[in-house]
Amino acid sequence: MPLATLQKFEQKIEQKIERQIRLLEARKHIIERKIERQFRLFEQKREDIGKRIEEQVRQFELKKGIRLDDEVRFIRSWFERPLTIGAVTPSGKVLARTMARYVDPNSTGPVVELGPGTGPVTEALVNAGVDPARLVLVEFNPTFCRILRSRYPDATLVQGDAYSMRRLLESLLLQPAAAVVSGLPLVTKPIRMRWRLIRDAFDLMVPGAPFVQFTYSVAAPLPKRLGGFSVEASERIWMNLPPARVWVYRRTENA
Ligand SMILES: C[S@@+](CC[C@H](N)C(=O)[O-])C[C@H]1O[C@@H](n2cnc3c(N)ncnc32)[C@H](O)[C@@H]1O
Repeated sequence: MPLATLQKFEQKIEQKIERQIRLLEARKHIIERKIERQFRLFEQKREDIGKRIEEQVRQFELKKGIRLDDEVRFIRSWFERPLTIGAVTPSGKVLARTMARYVDPNSTGPVVELGPGTGPVTEALVNAGVDPARLVLVEFNPTFCRILRSRYPDATLVQGDAYSMRRLLESLLLQPAAAVVSGLPLVTKPIRMRWRLIRDAFDLMVPGAPFVQFTYSVAAPLPKRLGGFSVEASERIWMNLPPARVWVYRRTENA
């Protein structure tokens, strides 16, 4: 084929490819805009549903003359981050009392609560005789932190990730903790992460102190086969929505 014809042929091919690329880019742009619009719609819908629930609860409160603020805040937070919040409503009184029962109010040292939320378990601990000044609350939701700060001004509030407990609390705790009480949605995390959390908790506590955890799940939040701790479980608490069980772990050897 003569050189001039070959060059012409090449030029044509290049032009064709360029046209295809331009077409593809235009299509990509359209698809991106469509996806963006869908995302905006989804966000809008989620916000609308949250607001509608909040409005309905407010109407209910007005009619009945009661305050359900904590539930509203909880539902809103659940809408924003369902897996992190782990529950649609705060724990009921029976569950909270059962958790608190595993903490000796006459022990010494700090009592650490992980994921206190709006504070139902905190309240049960205080009602059971734990001095609020001993409480160290680790919560990362800023709305819940504001509530906790105003309700428990004497407690130490740490706004942060409970899974970084060792780094957050090592220098803060002046003596080993008497108990760690957790409302974290543990079962949504991989076993390795749960295992690291409980090991860090054991390291921060006096030997034999309890790590108290509730779960809605039927299985234990930490399987016994991991070893190194004793396990104790409460009866299933049917008076909670959803029904839950409290698990208590204590270190038996250097886990
Ligand atoms: C199932 S709710 C329990 C709240 C409260 N203890 C109760 O019983 O109602 C879980 C709580 O853990 C908090 N949380 C979840 N992951 C956390 C993390 N990594 N660090 C600190 N708080 C966390 C959530 O914001 C929420 O307040």
